[in-house]
Amino acid sequence: MIRLLAAVLLAACAAPALAFDGPDYPYPVPLGLKAPDVPADNPITDAKVDLGKRLYFDKRLSRDGTVSCATCHAPEKGWTDQAPVSTGIKGQKGGVSAPTVLNSAYMEFQFWDGRAPSLEEQAKGPIENPLEMGFTHAEAVALLKTIKGYAPLFKESFGDEGIDIDRVAKAIATFERTVLTGNSPYDRWQAGDKKAMSESAIRGHHVFHGKGNCAICHDGFNFSNSDFHNIGVGMAAEKPNPGRFGQTKDPNHTGAFKTPTLRNLRYTAPYMHDGSETTLEAVIDYYDRGGFANPHLDGRMKPLRLTAQEKKDLVAFMDALNGDPVAVKFPKMPE
Ligand code: HEC
Ligand code: HEC
Repeated sequence: MIRLLAAVLLAACAAPALAFDGPDYPYPVPLGLKAPDVPADNPITDAKVDLGKRLYFDKRLSRDGTVSCATCHAPEKGWTDQAPVSTGIKGQKGGVSAPTVLNSAYMEFQFWDGRAPSLEEQAKGPIENPLEMGFTHAEAVALLKTIKGYAPLFKESFGDEGIDIDRVAKAIATFERTVLTGNSPYDRWQAGDKKAMSESAIRGHHVFHGKGNCAICHDGFNFSNSDFHNIGVGMAAEKPNPGRFGQTKDPNHTGAFKTPTLRNLRYTAPYMHDGSETTLEAVIDYYDRGGFANPHLDGRMKPLRLTAQEKKDLVAFMDALNGDPVAVKFPKMPE
């Protein structure tokens, strides 16, 4: 199974040299990325990736057996659900848009408000969220114990057949650390292939770092500083989502959300935590206006006065951040 995934990733990295960075990371890392950090108590092994992948796709982890992680973070939909808000068990709608799982391994905090400090902690959330998978951890674990095929997989991964929610979360997080997207035209351009990006995208790269001031927040190889900013999105609502404030109670965090990656946006519309922007052109116009004025607006949000050409160039640059789609085969479900 892992060989298959590795083959997909390898195929995605054909041509320029692989950015194989860090001796501890066991899989090829697509061009342009670094090896993700791996917690010391949850090393990556083939067995654990395989187990995590099956759990990720297993709908039996939801109360009525209809929803898996892949329902809302579907590989064929850019590892999200392409909807403004997600739909969990019994057709229930959540309050925010599902971010992509692609490259979530690089985020210092998980969720729009950063309430989970790691992928391990994150993975426990949806299983017991009544709007998402609607189980309790105890019930989910009890159910997994009734599926005979899982016991040997847990043994291979953790040394014995014991199943608990921490092991479930560790396996899922391990699988997610292999779901990486890179090798975009931008990465090939950075690696020296001067033809990999169009002239327009190259101009857009300059606007991104210059007049557009985007890189102060969409920073680094994953285009996110993993930090929280109020850029005004959703602040016109009658009861705005408090965002990061809900976690820190710091008034400066009112309406602040985590800076998302800008990789693979071709597949992940609609954009923003509330899915309020449907196209990249609309996002650029939003920034060009300086965002939505509110008392907590990040001080760096200013009207940009971009020309029509600069806007087009920025979109071309973001298009150049689309890597090869990361496809995985639906795994065989243990019985
Ligand atoms: C019903 C839809 C739904 C299901 C099922 C679901 N998620 Fe999510 N996921 C979301 C939404 C919506 C968010 C954003 C929630 C928030 O930020 O408050 C999210 C956030 C995340 C994030 C954070 C990404 C980031 O950049 O912050 C990860 C990782 C993730 N989910 C993985 C999973 C895993 C693993 C499972 C299965 C155990 C799962 N999700 C099940 C909808 C879903
Ligand atoms: C002050 C920090 C900051 C600056 C400057 C900034 N962004 Fe953002 N960006 C964010 C945050 C935070 C979000 C998520 C906001 C939300 O959903 O409430 C975001 C969201 C986005 C999204 C939506 C991505 C998705 O998956 O939903 C795009 C596209 C984007 N920004 C592009 C840009 C571009 C292009 C620029 C420059 C013109 C820019 N950003 C400048 C912080 C910033």
